[in-house]
Amino acid sequence: MMRVVVLISGRGSNLASLFAATDRDGFPARVVAVISNRPAAQGLAIAAARGVPTDVLDHRQFAERGQFDTALAGVIDGFMPDLIVLAGFMRILGEGFVRRYEGRLINIHPSLLPAFPGLHTHRRALLEGVRIHGCTVHFVTADLDHGPVIIQAAVPVLDSDDEDTLAARVLAQEHVVYPQAVRWFAEGRLHLCAGRIVLDVPQDGASALIAPQIARCPPC
Ligand code: GAR
Repeated sequence: MMRVVVLISGRGSNLASLFAATDRDGFPARVVAVISNRPAAQGLAIAAARGVPTDVLDHRQFAERGQFDTALAGVIDGFMPDLIVLAGFMRILGEGFVRRYEGRLINIHPSLLPAFPGLHTHRRALLEGVRIHGCTVHFVTADLDHGPVIIQAAVPVLDSDDEDTLAARVLAQEHVVYPQAVRWFAEGRLHLCAGRIVLDVPQDGASALIAPQIARCPPC
């Protein structure tokens, strides 16, 4: 059973969707800890209600970003995870941290990257007038909201949309693709090889999920 540590900063709906997935029979991973950089993150209560260990590392207690990263890595390593899942974790992580967990640190972002990295993605999508929006699960690199794409889900942008309706449509897809990515990783079907995704799953062209091309590399 693969061990997953989830990092959050707020609401925790992606965390809840991961719990729902891991509850299903045969899911090959379990969440062993949830860590927040914000004491008030609602997601902490979701984990605590399930008896999953939680920890809070308040970034405001650290003078420098590097000190926070080092302390965070210490807490994470204590739980001996195979995979670290950023689920609405709204802190920028330094290069050293990212390198330490290379190939086992993933993030979800509410846009079709590389469009709209950063904040207020739904507002910006509406302002730009894009007709297709969505979400992306990717391996984390030192560049904010960048990194090899694991899976994306696209949704239409409707004329009647406002920020809230569009966010809700995207979030529903986040709750589909993130557990899927974790499952692939835990099944050993997904990994990073020389900075590229290697994903051993059949492609389904009819699906709303847009998976990357299957790439195979002999050393892997
Ligand atoms: C999600 O929409 C996630 O994609 C986003 O924060 C939200 C967290 O919601 N993450 C980012 O913007 C990362 N750049 P949740 O706490 O309900 O899962």
